[in-house]
Amino acid sequence: MKALILILALLANQALAADARPLAPLPPAAQESLREEMLGNLLAINEILTLMAAGKLKEAGQLAETSLGQSAMGKHRGKPLDARPGAHMPQAMHQIGMDGHRAASEFAKAAASGDRELAVTLLPNLTGACVACHYSWRTR
Ligand code: HEC
Repeated sequence: MKALILILALLANQALAADARPLAPLPPAAQESLREEMLGNLLAINEILTLMAAGKLKEAGQLAETSLGQSAMGKHRGKPLDARPGAHMPQAMHQIGMDGHRAASEFAKAAASGDRELAVTLLPNLTGACVACHYSWRTR
């Protein structure tokens, strides 16, 4: 994950100048669902960092699992097909999302166990998934 981010960062300026990211064509309803989920993600990341800084490992772990971890998968399952983002994502993009959920659960487990050093080591993987997807794909 770290190596991937470094490569993405090196390519970033060039890619963004011309926006060379491939388009993931999601239906408008799926974009809307995703936007809502993403704002929740942003809030969750901020809250997790705040809890970690305050030494509240257990709470940080719990929040990571429920908001970003594997427990947070399938949020859109009950919606009509055109409102489910995952169903329309290219396979490689969807995989980044899955990896992100897994990374959040790994962090959550470490935090819940009280292993601060391991939790801090795994923490960048949380934002790593956000960066990996956003630098690899566009939806408009
Ligand atoms: C699998 C890909 C993927 C991952 C992983 C991902 N995002 Fe996103 N994100 C998107 C896409 C696609 C959009 C644009 C949605 C749209 O069409 O409006 C987006 C949009 C956003 C937005 C803008 C919302 C708005 O106001 O329009 C924020 C903020 C955001 N993401 C935060 C995050 C954070 C924080 C994480 C990590 C915890 C994350 N994202 C992980 C794909 C992803």
